[in-house]
Amino acid sequence: MQNIIITGGAGFIGSHVVRLFVNKYPQYKIINLDKLTYAGNLANLKDIENKPNYKFVRMDICYFDGVYKLMQDEKVDGIIHLAAESHVDRSIKDPFTFAQTNVMGTLSLLQAAKLYWENLPEKFDGKRFYHISTDEVYGALEMTHPEGIKPPFTTKASSGEHHLAYGEKFFTEDLKYQPHSPYSAAKASSDHFVRAFHDTYGLPTVVTNCSNNYGPYQFPEKLIPLFINNIRHRKPLPVYGKGENVRDWLYVEDHARAIDLIFHKGTIAETYNIGGFNEWKNIDIIKVVINTVDRLLGRKEGEDMNLITYVTDRAGHDMRYAIDSSKLQRELGWEPSLQFEEGIEKTVKWYLENQAWMDNITSGEYEKYYEEMYKNR
Ligand code: NAD
Ligand code: TYD
Repeated sequence: MQNIIITGGAGFIGSHVVRLFVNKYPQYKIINLDKLTYAGNLANLKDIENKPNYKFVRMDICYFDGVYKLMQDEKVDGIIHLAAESHVDRSIKDPFTFAQTNVMGTLSLLQAAKLYWENLPEKFDGKRFYHISTDEVYGALEMTHPEGIKPPFTTKASSGEHHLAYGEKFFTEDLKYQPHSPYSAAKASSDHFVRAFHDTYGLPTVVTNCSNNYGPYQFPEKLIPLFINNIRHRKPLPVYGKGENVRDWLYVEDHARAIDLIFHKGTIAETYNIGGFNEWKNIDIIKVVINTVDRLLGRKEGEDMNLITYVTDRAGHDMRYAIDSSKLQRELGWEPSLQFEEGIEKTVKWYLENQAWMDNITSGEYEKYYEEMYKNR
């Protein structure tokens, strides 16, 4: 594998994947294809932008002719596709953009890869189209136990191992898709197109569905960076509903390592779920974040708890996400490297030490968006 396009490389997860590949594989040419929407930020890649094996191309994945030409010009062997509209709240306000980018954009990339590769002498040999998706396509899990035991309790994953969880069931790869938000519906649709291109044309695809990521360079509209920044400025922390919803959190560099492994060793046409069996109720995670920010800023630990503000719930708010990553652990030997407490400490430290990065993206347009988003809650 020589020449690889990574789409969405200027975003949160994409920038970690680009960094990992550029540093680890000097023999590869890494082409970061990104439209630079509000979520794309080249400052996320400052440390590798001058490396000889890295190239940035500003392009919309929906622009089929451009993508097709780029594949020919750069003799592309592999695509790692992360570009997407990724925020559920935005998808509730503007579902069209989500269908356009996530569905039509993915289709444009699939068609370009198919046309370019099938006309090469070696055809699909040694080629790979890797689509990054989310656990949200599976819908929401319940928080129940047959004997009425209060969560969290210990329950069995498909590997037979026991994990602390907020419900009995986990998302496994064979589960039916039941997306609820326009975001997850658009991601689910794109996953179906990827599989259809394998089944119909033999395109060498692989799909992964990952749990919530956290870590450096995440746009501060998502829970953890938004709250870190608000605590720093002593602004209210808008907790949706009762704060009882459960998410499964994975440190972003662990996701990037899984992507590296699956890109190189994953079986064609397979799906792998990625997650660290790390479920948290929103309100509990928020308290950990408040304590950590307070401590690292030299404030009295917990002194900012009064910023917690319960607001109207998100429409269609999924109750619980929980990934069963037994298949990935069993077949490819992946496991998360960081305990959550360590990951959160590292993350909060990074945001506090990189306030210029945060201040840059939270000026101007961002303020308007934030006011609009929360004015009716
Ligand atoms: P992000 O919103 O931080 O970044 C998205 C990137 O895609 C940005 O750089 C943006 O400029 C680019 N982009 C958007 N529309 C584009 C277009 N039309 N053409 C080209 N580039 C475009 O997203 P993220 O959180 O890094 O997520 C990356 C991928 O991982 C997404 O596909 C998302 O569905 C998936 N995912 C995210 C999470 C998570 O917790 N963030 C979890 C599981 C899966
Ligand atoms: P988010 O980071 O938007 O990720 P996702 O919706 O993809 O899981 O939200 C994580 C959880 O935090 C989710 O249950 C919604 C909740 N949340 C809040 O309570 N307040 C907020 O301001 C945000 C952004 C999210």
